[in-house]
Amino acid sequence: MKQKVVITRMIPDAAKEMLKKEADIFMWHSGDEPMPRDILLQEVADAAAIFTNVADRIDKEVFDHASKLKVVSTMAVGFDNIDITEANKRKIPVGHTPGILTETTADLTFALLMATARRIVEGMDYIREGRWKSWGTMLMSGQDISGATIGIIGMGRIGEAVAKRARGFDMNVLYHNRNRRPEVEKRLEARYCSLEMLLKESDFVVLLSPSTPETYRMIGEKELNLMKPNAVFINTSRGTNVDEQALYQALASGKIWAAGLDVFENEPISPDHPLLTLQNVVVLPHIGSASIATRTQMAVMAAENILAGLSGRKLNHAVNPEVYDTNQK
Ligand code: GLV
Ligand code: GLV
Repeated sequence: MKQKVVITRMIPDAAKEMLKKEADIFMWHSGDEPMPRDILLQEVADAAAIFTNVADRIDKEVFDHASKLKVVSTMAVGFDNIDITEANKRKIPVGHTPGILTETTADLTFALLMATARRIVEGMDYIREGRWKSWGTMLMSGQDISGATIGIIGMGRIGEAVAKRARGFDMNVLYHNRNRRPEVEKRLEARYCSLEMLLKESDFVVLLSPSTPETYRMIGEKELNLMKPNAVFINTSRGTNVDEQALYQALASGKIWAAGLDVFENEPISPDHPLLTLQNVVVLPHIGSASIATRTQMAVMAAENILAGLSGRKLNHAVNPEVYDTNQK
């Protein structure tokens, strides 16, 4: 009998076909509607694998319901939605999709930065609403990107790719990271500095840190108070890294100039979210890695992780390789 794979959203055919050949699949196929929790808990009972994404919570309850589980695979680089401690207790490898989405996510980060700085969305709304009556001296005037200072918080793969783009715009690059990256400093002429210094000196503050207990609300009132009045804040990492209430206050009071956000503390946000009442905010529905090619490759990579897990091979990209450590109790 083939092993069962639960897939919590529709996935591209390329990935689906790979899994179908080797396994019985249960795919939730109501467009992009989330798989209801009770169905997830029910379907994982006899499943050997779960194909998930950033929007499902794979916690102790799910693991407790899934006694036959051999592998969890998320179609994302971030895995804060999965309880890795619970996975480790059960020696279940968890796969993710690093590397492949780096350039695509950096593109989106830079697009959001530019859209926010130059008021692209506001400008289009202005025309749509029939408000464009003549050329205006200061109409929709924004912030310069070329030559400005960008501060990148979280210099991982995506941070580097953003720094590379920033260099192309003759930006001065500052960064803050858990570890210094001397090679990146040299190659991209990036200057390491404390978080405080970065916040004080940057015209653009770009947050790319993963979501961990240490990064929870790492940007709050105190940090926002350090930023320049012309600062543009961009977040394409995780919403939990920011105190949204404090961000709202800083934007509403003009303490900082604008924000571009692809992620939120609770997703999806509704149209009456307070941040949407502000002119100086550009929001996107968590689409950092969403190019057709990249999302397809991510799905294939996630399927490869599942197939490896089902056959007892090591995953190409496990977030918890410690499960393979046979000395570990
Ligand atoms: C998306 O947010 C990801 O972690 O890949
Ligand atoms: C993700 O790929 C990162 O390390 O930034």
